[in-house]
Amino acid sequence: MLRQAAEPLHLATIRTVSEELPEHVRANREAWDRFAHEYVERGRRNWAEEPHWGIWHVAEDELRLLPDDLRDKDVVELGCGTAYVSAWLARRGARPVGIDNSTVQLDTARTLQREFGLDFPLHLGNAEATPFEDASFDYAISEYGAALWADPYAWIPEAARILRPGGELMLYTNGALLHLTIPELEADGPAGTQLLRPYFGMYRTIWPDDTSVEFHLPHGEWVRLLRANGFDIERLVEVQVPVDAVSDEQWQFATAEWASKWPSEEAWIARKRGKST
Ligand SMILES: C[S@@+](CC[C@H](N)C(=O)[O-])C[C@H]1O[C@@H](n2cnc3c(N)ncnc32)[C@H](O)[C@@H]1O
Repeated sequence: MLRQAAEPLHLATIRTVSEELPEHVRANREAWDRFAHEYVERGRRNWAEEPHWGIWHVAEDELRLLPDDLRDKDVVELGCGTAYVSAWLARRGARPVGIDNSTVQLDTARTLQREFGLDFPLHLGNAEATPFEDASFDYAISEYGAALWADPYAWIPEAARILRPGGELMLYTNGALLHLTIPELEADGPAGTQLLRPYFGMYRTIWPDDTSVEFHLPHGEWVRLLRANGFDIERLVEVQVPVDAVSDEQWQFATAEWASKWPSEEAWIARKRGKST
């Protein structure tokens, strides 16, 4: 009793919520609170730049992943991290809301909001169980956020719940082939040409030199899951880069030669069935 009374209310609330989180969400919160300092400068650079995607910085003009018209659209970024994707959407006229599982990542996002003079709501929370009302958004996006770090069997139904009929979902993550060919230990180098693990059943991964939990699905399972949750799939974009492409220094998952032959990253674009109002 005494300890609770002496504690600031918001801290007590955060701890109660975090005690209720699924184990992988708790593990990823701890991991991302630890990783966050390595993402500040990259976040700042991305806030300053035009939209581009993934480890190869492929320009939006080339991939055309975003809807043509975002003006006055309610959009949610699931696992927004430093929130540069939300900043890009805000500059295109949308009303973004970001949600992320890491307090420290959100601190960076708030710092960058002040630096760039752009303000939009940011929530601490789990993309698998958001605080948002049913049918509150026209567009949901996740670039290596929920798309990689949240359980797809929980966050895809949640995205379907909070999107309006006719609303669009875009998720951007590691390519399925990359996941099969990348060595277990980072020290063993980038993806090779041998299949190192089964395709069928790929789902939850904890790498031996890390504590965070990632999620990957075979393509057939993405199709089944999206359709079962009321989405029609509009595009699967398998990202191919030129043989002289340069990847972000932070991630050397694949050489450019590899990524010119096989998709190191992929984007799924799906639309929630039903008529927009
Ligand atoms: C690669 S980072 C962020 C991606 C963002 N585009 C960026 O680079 O700033 C991945 C983010 O996903 C967040 N995340 C992981 N699991 C999550 C979950 N269950 N719900 C919401 N966010 C989550 C992490 O906290 C982290 O900030």
